[in-house]
Amino acid sequence: MHSEEGVADHGRHRSLKCPISFPEHVLHAPREAYELLREDQGEVAYDPTTQSWHVMSPLLARKVLTDKRFLARGMKHKTHLVPEARRADVHYVESFLSQWLVFSDPPVQQHVRTALAAAMDSSFMAEVTRQAAEQAEATVGSAAVDLITDMALPVARAATRTLLGATLSQLEIIEGVSDAVMAYLAVPGADAGKAACAADHIRLLEALVDDQLLHGGDRIAAALRALHQQKVLDLTGVSATYTQLFTGALEPLKTALVSCLAHIGDQGWSPADVEKLEPVDWADFIETQIRDDPPFHFAPRRTTTTIELGDRTIAEGARVVVNLLKANEDCRPNRHLSFGHGRHYCLGARLARAVLQSCLPVLARKAVSDDVDVLGVSKAKAVGMTVYEVNEI
Ligand code: HEM
Repeated sequence: MHSEEGVADHGRHRSLKCPISFPEHVLHAPREAYELLREDQGEVAYDPTTQSWHVMSPLLARKVLTDKRFLARGMKHKTHLVPEARRADVHYVESFLSQWLVFSDPPVQQHVRTALAAAMDSSFMAEVTRQAAEQAEATVGSAAVDLITDMALPVARAATRTLLGATLSQLEIIEGVSDAVMAYLAVPGADAGKAACAADHIRLLEALVDDQLLHGGDRIAAALRALHQQKVLDLTGVSATYTQLFTGALEPLKTALVSCLAHIGDQGWSPADVEKLEPVDWADFIETQIRDDPPFHFAPRRTTTTIELGDRTIAEGARVVVNLLKANEDCRPNRHLSFGHGRHYCLGARLARAVLQSCLPVLARKAVSDDVDVLGVSKAKAVGMTVYEVNEI
């Protein structure tokens, strides 16, 4: 998960509550809610509920995402919101989050990004894709009936586990951090209890990183080890990067697979429809679907100075949300913003496309010919990201 307010109250994070500051209509229908904002105020609109500027035209979105006066360090530390005695955990969790690649800024962000990009070369990506495809194939003969837990999630998990070079039990610890941190982010202000829980999970991960992960021989571990030795990242930074890679890869891969399969179900595709598609058609289909149903809706930034944007003057320190969901509505399929743009452009975009293109045809074949309930999912109430859940019967 990338955006700091990308939280949901269902799906994998079933126990989370949405921030109370988001009105119900935004949770139910974010696209329509932001359309009202656009109709009312134009392409750069102020949302008083979240105290954020929303940028909804592709042109201005690209401008913000390439303009160095907007920083990704979007989060204000919430330490002051809790009693002094309980600030240590909040501070620890906030510092951890600020080291997520997507929330950091140059020079560290560039350094880490360059090292990770070099580690993720073509042969490594082919291996990640192969493992994901193997998992997709494994569902074909299985009794899988649930689009999310039986099909999309195992494939996304296989890709993520190979990417991180982690064992299943190591992955569980990383997932624990991811869930606990999301739970912390899902409440407005700081919740000392949630901070304490997240802090415990992070400490566990730091011990694992120190003990095992940093010494692993795989690509990502080697890149992070070098960054650690060069003192670019401390132990918390390495743990934060692992978590960002985990959340950043697993969630949107799962969402994109479900989104594509649900669309195929909605359109009533037959097995023959699936068989007749060439790889290039699948690539087009996936790209269009990711544009129309982006897994992440926001790229949040903060201004470092007063900035003129469109016909607006935005003050220094203001929160600016590049609304990928709305900006995409005016983009051609191959020019969408679902992977972001500029300095923080998704590091896994090529990998995501490769995984989706190799796994979707396999899963689709099963979905249209077997007893899989492709229509049995719907979007959960969520702000900042798309979350699918299995319909309750
Ligand atoms: C369909 C799948 C995916 C989608 C839609 C997606 C979307 C995004 C978006 C929108 C951003 C930019 C956020 C911003 O500017 O604030 C981003 C950044 C990032 N993504 Fe992805 N992502 C996907 C898959 C992956 C995968 C598989 C990985 C694993 C390597 C990954 C790793 C990252 C990282 C590390 C960043 C931060 C880059 C930086 O800050 O320099 N993503 N992603």
